[in-house]
Amino acid sequence: MNSTDVSKAMNTLTHGVYVLGVHANDKDNLMTAAWLCQVASSPAMLVVAVSTGHLTADMMKEAGYFTVSVLRDTQKDTAIACGLVSGRKEDKTKLVETEYTEDGIPMIKDAATQLVCKVVDQKVVTNHTLFIAEAVSATQNADEVLLYHQKDFF
Ligand SMILES: Cc1cc2nc3c(=O)[nH]c(=O)nc-3n(C[C@H](O)[C@H](O)[C@H](O)COP(=O)(O)O)c2cc1C
Repeated sequence: MNSTDVSKAMNTLTHGVYVLGVHANDKDNLMTAAWLCQVASSPAMLVVAVSTGHLTADMMKEAGYFTVSVLRDTQKDTAIACGLVSGRKEDKTKLVETEYTEDGIPMIKDAATQLVCKVVDQKVVTNHTLFIAEAVSATQNADEVLLYHQKDFF
């Protein structure tokens, strides 16, 4: 077996491409995330790692609820728009097609799946906060989803 740089090897892990949506203190924000996975089924729970320095982490702590939009394979531009600029600099809800839950949380219009999630626990791991959340409602619109390959984004 060849010895390889660990961080390079981690790029071979597989991920989907998601957009987190959050509303807190009269502000909306959207953020692309790949480090998200299901961790339990009954009830359905997931974990997402958000850099503690990102505006989204502050807003998720404040709000306690967030949306997950599972992007379609045609929505790569949305992933880039929500993943390369901070909500501190730009209102990302104006950059992409956004719609809102009945409680006013933003999500991506016509995403493959839209989940509303309730934060049930948080843990800081190095420079990321892991948000453990229950998926409390869902809308599914399509089966074809965008997959994450680091070479396609960075
Ligand atoms: C494809 C892709 C995947 C990303 N995955 C994550 C992730 O899982 N966690 C994270 O903290 N940042 C991730 N990012 C980076 C954030 O989306 C980016 O830094 C964003 O501008 C932060 O926005 P905010 O400051 O408005 O919260 C990803 C970016 C891209 C393009």
